[in-house]
Amino acid sequence: MPNVVVIGAQWGDEGKGKVVDLLTEYADVVVRFQGGNNAGHTLVVDGQKTVLHLIPSGILHPGKACVIGNGVVVDPEVLAHEIDALKARGLLQDDHQLVLSLDAHVIMPWHKAIDIAREQRMGAGKIGTTGRGIGPTYEDKVARRGMRIRDLLDEARLARKVKERLQAAREELQRLGGTLDVDEATLVKRFAELGRKLAPYAQDASLWLHRAMQAKKSLLFEGAQGTLLDVDHGTYPFVTSSNTVAGNAATGSGVGPTAIDRVIGITKAYSTRVGGGPYPSELKDATGDQLRQVGGEYGATTGRPRRTGWIDALALRYAARVNGLDGLAMTKLDVLTGFPEVKIAIAYRCEGRTYEEMPSDLETLERCEAVYESVPGWSERLGGARRWEDLPRSAREYVERVARLAGVDIVAVSVGADRGETILLQNPFRA
Ligand code: IMP
Repeated sequence: MPNVVVIGAQWGDEGKGKVVDLLTEYADVVVRFQGGNNAGHTLVVDGQKTVLHLIPSGILHPGKACVIGNGVVVDPEVLAHEIDALKARGLLQDDHQLVLSLDAHVIMPWHKAIDIAREQRMGAGKIGTTGRGIGPTYEDKVARRGMRIRDLLDEARLARKVKERLQAAREELQRLGGTLDVDEATLVKRFAELGRKLAPYAQDASLWLHRAMQAKKSLLFEGAQGTLLDVDHGTYPFVTSSNTVAGNAATGSGVGPTAIDRVIGITKAYSTRVGGGPYPSELKDATGDQLRQVGGEYGATTGRPRRTGWIDALALRYAARVNGLDGLAMTKLDVLTGFPEVKIAIAYRCEGRTYEEMPSDLETLERCEAVYESVPGWSERLGGARRWEDLPRSAREYVERVARLAGVDIVAVSVGADRGETILLQNPFRA
């Protein structure tokens, strides 16, 4: 049974949740391996909207298991809230459906306060984080002073760790001009309660996955954010604090790299970015506004308007390389309906030099302008297309051109928000 990784090939928000939701039908288990509630997947099933930040969207499928791996940073308040919301909708009736790694690091209130205070201090040069405490939590993990899910399950241990960490966090917050309005005893009580709430799900997720594979179950690894936000391979420092690339599916869940059979990248038919950082194909004009309006490009997590632009073939080719993509799924093709011409960034120009591959130096990238190729647009609405042949010829030619430039086959095209509005050309679980 193949195991498939799905990751974002751009700057996040590519519509991974939708593709994962579709592919979940063919998998037994969906696994998150990095990031936290900085991610947000908006899913529409039978017209009903669900936004999930931590629990894999596979939870909407009864009978499928979902795993939150060791590489994820978990805000227990958010997770508890998602569990309650799902149960209220009649989902997650069986607690065995959700597995939470004992080794996942916990986002504590001070992590959020530090994240926000730091950003405020940085002013114009800020990263534009989601303010969810992601960076400070990963920092504590790497500094070997983090708190993990297992620490919430033992109140004495929790109290000891909170005492140690709270003092240091308050000192840092004071330096940054931030505050944390909570006392130690309240914090310990609240997090012990959350520990009790999450205890039924907490276990050795690596061992659980190992046993699932021995039982010939198929795994679907669901990436969060996107390749260009990877802490090693993205537009550093304008990145998130985890590895978003496919290789981290193994490290972030406790399976070996040999467990991964296929890697699928998701791209929008255009591009978006939230927060600061270079973005050579950005459109700060009426076309960019149209993409934002028609595409509903406002953050699922923060509500921030997303920056918008044409698709960037250099970014996709780069994503194909660093993730080892076997296929590309293109979402939101319907948003491009009505543009007389559609553009693809095929090179960058910077101070008289032309780049055909993404320059790795941020300062160079910041000065780059995109060089475009134009293809004819189409005026037909695409929502009803269910087969490749249903798409207008110009739309097909556009998708084919992008695939050729990226050097990856297209495996799916999505033409609307609903689960049914997707054309699956090649099923990675069957191919
Ligand atoms: P952080 O992950 O909150 O630390 O934010 C770091 C950068 O990643 C910022 O530019 C965020 O806007 C961006 N980011 C984080 N999560 C997402 C996401 O799910 N989609 C798009 N951008 C994201």
